[in-house]
Amino acid sequence: MPIAALTAWSMLIEYGGLQAGDTVLLQGTGGVSIFGLQFALMAGARAIITSSSNAKLERAKALGAWKTINYSEVPDWDKAALELTGGVDHVLDVGGAATMVKSINALRIGGTLSMVGFLSGLTIPEYDVTSILQKAATVRGSQVGNRHHFEKMNRAIAHHHLHPVIDHVFPLERIGDAFALLAEGKQYFGKIVVQI
Ligand SMILES: NC(=O)c1ccc[n+]([C@@H]2O[C@H](COP(=O)([O-])OP(=O)(O)OC[C@H]3O[C@@H](n4cnc5c(N)ncnc54)[C@H](OP(=O)(O)O)[C@@H]3O)[C@@H](O)[C@H]2O)c1
Repeated sequence: MPIAALTAWSMLIEYGGLQAGDTVLLQGTGGVSIFGLQFALMAGARAIITSSSNAKLERAKALGAWKTINYSEVPDWDKAALELTGGVDHVLDVGGAATMVKSINALRIGGTLSMVGFLSGLTIPEYDVTSILQKAATVRGSQVGNRHHFEKMNRAIAHHHLHPVIDHVFPLERIGDAFALLAEGKQYFGKIVVQI
């Protein structure tokens, strides 16, 4: 809650000012993105989510995603998002090096890119920043969030009866298995929990 959820909450709701009717693009089906999906729906926004797995995209649809794109089958997912929307209002980028340029491409003019993650690395060699200028984009880095945002988020979660999406719960003595699942990177949807 104080990391994945708070990051999605801070970037979309507190700093991003997400409004009902806005369109959000979320990448993959890990902890930050699934909380992002839940908060986007809470705010009345439309969510597009990408994944490398069609089965996970079905689960995201069942949670309320508006559109889904398989980024393995559709490497130009930025163009697909543009075709669906004419440009999304907000992208929550968790991919980093492999996704950031495409994330900017997917934005509408005046849209916001929240730079959160680096699942594919941090370094983008020789990136031409023209697209940021042409999109008049807001690019904001994330450092999780603060206590005030955390308390507001928890109040909203309670009021909306929002339940975090938990893929696996491990007892403390199986923490090694929890880390092994996390290290595989793609075998879970939402969060892995270790019960203490
Ligand atoms: N800056 C901050 O404030 C902050 C805070 C929290 C987390 N983070 C960072 O944000 C990132 C995400 O954290 P998380 O907890 O959500 O991770 P996670 O739960 O481990 O997310 C894993 C999922 O990300 C998706 N993914 C992996 N590579 C991708 C790519 N190239 N393009 C699109 N999706 C990709 C995959 O989804 P599919 O299996 O569906 O394809 C994978 O299952 C991490 O780098 C983390 O360190 C930063």
